[in-house]
Amino acid sequence: MADGGLPDVVPLPGLPEQVTIWEVGARDGLQNESAVIPAAIKVEFIHRLADAGLPVVEATSFVRPDWVPQLADAVEVMASLERVPGVRYPVLVPNKRGLARAVAAGVADVAVFASATETFAQRNLNRSLATQMEMFDPVIAGARAAGMAVRGYVSMCFGDPWEGRVPRQQVVEVCRQLLAAGCDALSLGDTIGVATPGQVTALLADLGAAGVPVGQLGVHFHDTYGQALANTLAALQCGVSTVDASAGGLGGCPYAKSATGNLATEDLVWMLDGLGIHTGVDLAALAATSVWLAGHLGRPSPSSVVRALS
Ligand code: HMG
Ligand code: MG
Repeated sequence: MADGGLPDVVPLPGLPEQVTIWEVGARDGLQNESAVIPAAIKVEFIHRLADAGLPVVEATSFVRPDWVPQLADAVEVMASLERVPGVRYPVLVPNKRGLARAVAAGVADVAVFASATETFAQRNLNRSLATQMEMFDPVIAGARAAGMAVRGYVSMCFGDPWEGRVPRQQVVEVCRQLLAAGCDALSLGDTIGVATPGQVTALLADLGAAGVPVGQLGVHFHDTYGQALANTLAALQCGVSTVDASAGGLGGCPYAKSATGNLATEDLVWMLDGLGIHTGVDLAALAATSVWLAGHLGRPSPSSVVRALS
């Protein structure tokens, strides 16, 4: 190991020179915490993430507050946020009501979240796989008309806790629907963290064959089975250069049984730093943020790199 808690830099051929880390700790991370975190702590968490150099800090969700009480303070969080110029602060919105609340809160960047499976569409959205786009279409159109960026998440791309194996063409079809509706980018979610690298490569190949540009794709791996970094490397080798991660490895989905934390941002940055891939993130500042937040959550961070550095 080089001095200063950083890996030696040895690049691998065929990888992107720069990766955009889409930080989801304040949303995916905190939506799953049983402890009630005061809005002021959330706001400080978001400020510290932006100060650590993260270019995209997903801030909260404008979903039904009784569905996700952990993020019921979305209005308060957005009102207190001091935005760093150049940093994006997207929020999740499922429907027109969510978009209206987000617009009133001064949001300029949103994400809808679709399911690749019937059961998760029912459980997470109270919609069917066939009707979820009826909810998203007006949101995407309205947000685009207002000049917003609109990301489309697709959950359960690599496996579903109720349905098991998920046919890749089912995932491709949902991706096509989201892009046709006007999303400018997609995030492929391994919601329960079961994927392995061959699956990632195969899905990205199928999406490429369906005409989806790899530049519009991000990957979103949960680390339940410890495969998230291996899956990320497979995605980078296919040309993906947007990777979702959560500071300290927080995360999960209250409506997906067996989902644990996201790929930890620190684990991702350690690997990308070692590969000489630019992220703009200050690893020491980020790890210190996760240690600070762990103090508020009352348990240590599950990230290997946070543990090693502290
Ligand atoms: P619904 O009950 O079908 O909604 O919920 P509805 O349209 O029938 O409305 C019912 C009532 O809720 C109405 O109130 C609405 O106004 C209100 P009433 O008129 O009866 O008094 N309502 C709202 N209030 C505030 N904000 C809103 C809102 N919408 C309706 N936005 C809905 C449908 C989609 C809203 C609900 O199922 C929901 O909130 N789901 C969110 C679940 C969630 O947040 N899951 C976690 C995020 S997804 C995830 O983590 C995966 C991801 O990380 C990627 C991966 O890992 O794969 C992204
Ligand atoms: Mg997630």
